[in-house]
Amino acid sequence: MNRYVIAPSILSADFARLGEEIAACESAGADWLHIDVMDGHFVPNITMGPFIVEACRRVTKLPLDVHLMIEKPERHLEAFAKAGASRINVHVETCPQLQDTLQQIKSLGCEAGVALNPDTTVEAIRAVMPQADLILVMSVYPGFSGQGFIPGSVAKVAEIRKKLDALSSPAWIEVDGGVTIENVRKLRDAGATAFVAATAVFKHPQGAVVGIHALHNALTLPSPSGRGK
Ligand code: DX5
Ligand code: ZN
Repeated sequence: MNRYVIAPSILSADFARLGEEIAACESAGADWLHIDVMDGHFVPNITMGPFIVEACRRVTKLPLDVHLMIEKPERHLEAFAKAGASRINVHVETCPQLQDTLQQIKSLGCEAGVALNPDTTVEAIRAVMPQADLILVMSVYPGFSGQGFIPGSVAKVAEIRKKLDALSSPAWIEVDGGVTIENVRKLRDAGATAFVAATAVFKHPQGAVVGIHALHNALTLPSPSGRGK
């Protein structure tokens, strides 16, 4: 696997051709497939449920990175695990018993991730940092693809990186929202290791394959300041 992960979000795929879109992502070297689940309550939009996860599972071997933007996610964990989720990411804002919820995800045989909204501080997830397999930093307000990247997310990634390193945690730091070839290296240099992209992949003028290659290529380059790895 590549050192840095690109996770296309199928939210911007053509759902009439979902199988073909996923095959294109896989052939282009996508590392994970990101699936955005929205309930019309926690976020204004309604998208997909376990049924789509199960359909994706049938057509790809890529790990399925399921992002639950729903209230009371604990009610649905089993259904998403059964549908074939590899990792289930829940929002700290929706989980009053976050440690228990992450434990429940793991006991279902999935990796457990925790997502935080742009206005949520890193302090809110401090207690679960040793337990989480992934921290999902929202760099837009969740709900829709195609929004502009919130620049303050870079500092948030750096803060999380510092805390994970202090714990010697191998957890991924995944950034979600407005990721482009212009900002991806800045995020990498701040310590992010996985990058979700819907628009930059599926709305790329030359198609999803070129979009994924462009993101992977951008990640092989040094940072504009020359400070990069
Ligand atoms: C937003 C979703 C994102 C979204 C990203 O609520 O969680 O995964 O699909 O879309 P882009 O890459 O277009 O910002
Ligand atoms: Zn997402």
